[in-house]
This record gives sequence, C-alpha cells and structure tokens, in this order.
Amino acid sequence: MRRSLVVANWKMHGSLNDNNHWIKNFKSSDLKQLTNTDIVICPSYPYLAQLQQSLLGQQNSHIFLGTQDVSSFANGAYTGQVSLSMIKDFSVNYVILGHSERRALCFEDDKLVADKAKAVMAGGLNPIVCLGETLEERETNKTHQVIKRQLQAVLDSVKSEDNLSNLVIAYEPVWAIGTGLNATAEQAQEVHRTIREQLTSVLSAELAANIRVIYGGSVKPNNAQELFNQPDIDGGLIGGASLDAGLFLEICTAATGRK
Ligand code: PGA
Repeated sequence: MRRSLVVANWKMHGSLNDNNHWIKNFKSSDLKQLTNTDIVICPSYPYLAQLQQSLLGQQNSHIFLGTQDVSSFANGAYTGQVSLSMIKDFSVNYVILGHSERRALCFEDDKLVADKAKAVMAGGLNPIVCLGETLEERETNKTHQVIKRQLQAVLDSVKSEDNLSNLVIAYEPVWAIGTGLNATAEQAQEVHRTIREQLTSVLSAELAANIRVIYGGSVKPNNAQELFNQPDIDGGLIGGASLDAGLFLEICTAATGRK
C-alpha cells in the first residue's frame, strides 16, 4: 500500500501570531500516532522559516514543508518570483503546482504547469500537480477529457526524469473547492481510477503503482474517512479545514486509519 499523504494548503492565510497558535495546537497532539502518514504543511513563502524552525525535526520525520507554487525559472531578473533553490534553503520537500486558483487567476496553462513539474522533479523535490474539471465541464461530460489532457501534459514533460516516483497527483474538482460540496467517494474514486490507468499506460506498472494520487475539495473530518478508504485515493489536499489544527489532525488521523 502507498504511504498516506495529507497536505495542508493554507492559501493566502496566516500571520506569525496565528501560525504560532496553530503550531502549538498541532504539536500538542501525539504526532507519533500518525507516523505512517506523510503530512505536508504549505504556508505562504514569508512563513517558511517560522515553520521550518518550529515544526521540522528528527522526531517528526513524517512532517514536511511545502510551497503553493514556485517559479519555472532558475534565477535572475524575474521580479516577484521565488525560485526552487530559495525554497530548498528552507527544507521544502513538496511544491503544489497548477492549483485551479492559479490556473484561473494567474493564467497558468498546462504547459507552464508541466515545465514547473519537470523543474521541481529535476531538483529532487516532490511536485503535487493539481488536476480538476469545472462544474460546466462535469455537466457536459468532459471530466475525463479534461483530466486526461492536464495529466498528459505533465507526463510528457516528466516521463524521462529519474525520480518519477516523487510525482504526486491531486484530483481537485474545481466545483468542490471551498464550496462545502465535496465529490462523493464514488465520484472521486472513478476519476482516481482513470488517473491510475493513465499513469499505467504511460509509465512502467511498478512506477505507476507507486505514484500517490490524493483528493482535494471540501475534505472535512466527516467525509475524510470514506474518501480515503477508496482503493485509488491515497490521502487529501486540504484547504479550509487545514487552517484549524484540530480539524486538520482529525483528517490526518483518518488517513492514518485508511483501509
Ligand atoms: P478546500 O480547498 O479544502 O477549502 O475545498 C482545497 C484546495 O483548494 O486545495
């Protein structure tokens, strides 16, 4: 069985003070009980140092830092961008890419997301590539076509990379993000299965079987267990509920207990 993975996407939330409260609450629970789950916290860039200092450590080797994006450029005259080498300075291991908010609001297309995934992987980090259909696409039966196109762009770009098992895919139906309307476990499993089939058709069976595919979109403590018990769902990408350390821990516990 693939290791469970739960990722907190804090989006543009947080402050030094709020984060300190969150960290205190998070660390007050018995994190050792969650050692069979990889837990990734993705704050905004200014807070990486705070989290690096207060959260990472030998006894928490299953807890990692991530970012919500990274530049596709290595370094240079790119005002406002943050490079891979910079985030590596803060012990970052994971990078969320192609989140639907970035695709919609920052005009990121499949090619840019694929280029970033390649750069992240070549740098030895784990890209978490988000795929997802809009409500209109779902209602016009285009879900599989959209997911396939988004995934193929990434696979074409990264398939010759050595550390391909670092790749993580997040299925996040756009209509489920921040709306309280999660995909049902059956709806999510159906898309996850087709993602797994597409991975298998492009990569070796062993490699495809090792890549983790997580679900995101209104995951809460009351629906996490059912979602995570699906055979092709390896964990979750959590937005709103990750801002509350208690709720987030309940979701991590559900991932740890997945069947
Ligand atoms: P949500 O967000 O859990 O608030 O729906 C998920 C995400 O955008 O990654």
